[in-house]
Amino acid sequence: MNEALYEGKAKKVYATSNPDEYLVYYKDDATAFNGIKKGTIDSKGVLNNKISTFFFELLTQNGVPNHFVRMVSDREMLVKKLTIVQIEVVVRNIAAGSLAKRIGWEEGRKLPSPVVEFYYKDDDLGDPLINEDHARALNLATDEQMKALKQWGLKINQILSTFLKEKKVELIDFKLEFGLHNGQLLLGDEISPDTCRFWDSETGQKLDKDRFRRDLGDVEAAYKEILKRLTGETC
Ligand code: TMP
Ligand code: ASP
Repeated sequence: MNEALYEGKAKKVYATSNPDEYLVYYKDDATAFNGIKKGTIDSKGVLNNKISTFFFELLTQNGVPNHFVRMVSDREMLVKKLTIVQIEVVVRNIAAGSLAKRIGWEEGRKLPSPVVEFYYKDDDLGDPLINEDHARALNLATDEQMKALKQWGLKINQILSTFLKEKKVELIDFKLEFGLHNGQLLLGDEISPDTCRFWDSETGQKLDKDRFRRDLGDVEAAYKEILKRLTGETC
């Protein structure tokens, strides 16, 4: 295989013969706390590729424009080439993680309505929380794009939460990335237990990367359980 164009913490990106498309390769590597904690989760690449494929297909069916073209192999996905907007969009239904800390709420307390947050994608700064005015000052996106990011975040939240509830999974919060493709704003990156918090609706058991971040054990089993709930597939 050719040299990767870009290697991130969990994925590699390759050029293809089509200048409009990239090949994304999902790795088993896992990091947390801006790369300070490092490890691997067996089969994570395969599981996240399959889980992301499932969610992108669900979102496509529900009218959310996104970069997904097709799954190519167990660890590879073909996507449309994006110029990434340097903003992470986080949507939260239940207080957890950094929000629980920031506002002094216990984890698990339901928010009265979904909360949308923006983070500046900059590893050197540790991805700080920003608002629309910061985004404008930093020239990260236009005001219109910021509105679209929030609206798509809320719409995606509705689609995913409703679907997951039927599978007895509570969508606590999640992170999205967007990019531009021929001037059109598309959802990019991945949607997986690396980028979402999923709790079992009945037991409250964590079925996501918090098991790795917090050394809770059974990390691979949690990712497998999510794939099984979504597709019935045992991997
Ligand atoms: P947080 O509570 O740590 O801010 O995380 C909010 C959501 O964003 C959670 O579902 C995990 C996801 N997330 C990422 O996808 N990448 C990251 O680097 C971080 C910090 C969080
Ligand atoms: N992607 C993050 C990192 O290593 C970690 C996380 O998901 O918490 O930096």
